Amino acid sequence: MYMAGKGGVGKSVCSAATGLWASGLGKKALVFSMDPAHSLSDLLEVDIGNRPIEIREGLDAVEPDVNAEAKKFYERYRNLFKALFEIMEFQIRPDDCGVMPGVGELIFMDRLYDVYIEGDYDMVVIDSAPTALVLPLLKLPELTTGIVTRLLGMKSKWTKIFNMLDPGFGDAVLAEVRRLRSKAETMRNALIDPETTSITVVLIPEKAAVLESERLINTVESHGVTVDSIIINHVVSGCDCDYCQKRMSAQGGYVSHIKEKYGEKRIAILPSYGEEMKGKALMEVARELYERGQLRM
Ligand SMILES: Nc1ncnc2c1ncn2[C@@H]1O[C@H](COP(=O)(O)OP(=O)(O)O)[C@@H](O)[C@H]1O
Ligand SMILES: [Mg+2]
Repeated sequence: MYMAGKGGVGKSVCSAATGLWASGLGKKALVFSMDPAHSLSDLLEVDIGNRPIEIREGLDAVEPDVNAEAKKFYERYRNLFKALFEIMEFQIRPDDCGVMPGVGELIFMDRLYDVYIEGDYDMVVIDSAPTALVLPLLKLPELTTGIVTRLLGMKSKWTKIFNMLDPGFGDAVLAEVRRLRSKAETMRNALIDPETTSITVVLIPEKAAVLESERLINTVESHGVTVDSIIINHVVSGCDCDYCQKRMSAQGGYVSHIKEKYGEKRIAILPSYGEEMKGKALMEVARELYERGQLRM
């Protein structure tokens, strides 16, 4: 399950709540943070790190460390990096590869691929990065095709030259390129398969957030991926004070707009709780979403 949306709208809260609910149903779940500004540790009140850690029975969480992963990624594709950068006489340090355009996404993809193939979990909730990074995983085909076709394109020309420079080097590069492409294809196929992946967009009923979410949904759906559900978070209700009445009437317009425009999707409403949702309070969110049947698991 991929939880998408702008920064600060409640993706991590909804991801953690979803993981808690899944484990309560007896599933083995993992919440996987893709946002470099990890916040799961804070929400779940456990120090989560680069390796999955048990939050409670049936629920693990992981906050991959981008720098550590960049180093591992560099090691895994050492020949590929050497080929790409040494020919261009461009020096790169392993820790730097994560900040190269497109590579950060590939690093997360590589890590997610391992989780997917190991198959230890019944459900993986991906707590994604803000939409500014526009669903990086869905752009994998273009990313890898970009990087990879450039290399595959030079197969005939360069494999031989690389092999002459250093016996076996050309073949090693080619093997790494193929491995990377095959992983990216596997993950892309898993992400666009509605039987495997469902995408939920979290938003708040305010103009900028609604507009940005509409753009996000367009982008995702133009990649052939359907957004199944929308969570409208921070909805105010049940107060007669002037301030809340004003907010309710403004929010009401956006809520009906979303309901009309996306009638074919599941739409869940989450109240504004008036306190930070963390620790035990996350169960409240889970009940609101799943026990009340607003979303399906
Ligand atoms: N419905 C809600 N009511 C009250 N506080 C909320 C609600 N949803 C989220 N929060 C709080 O808002 C902050 C941002 O939520 P978070 O899930 O971290 O957003 P995101 O992951 O989208 O950046 C957190 O401190 C969280 O506790
Ligand atoms: Mg978050």
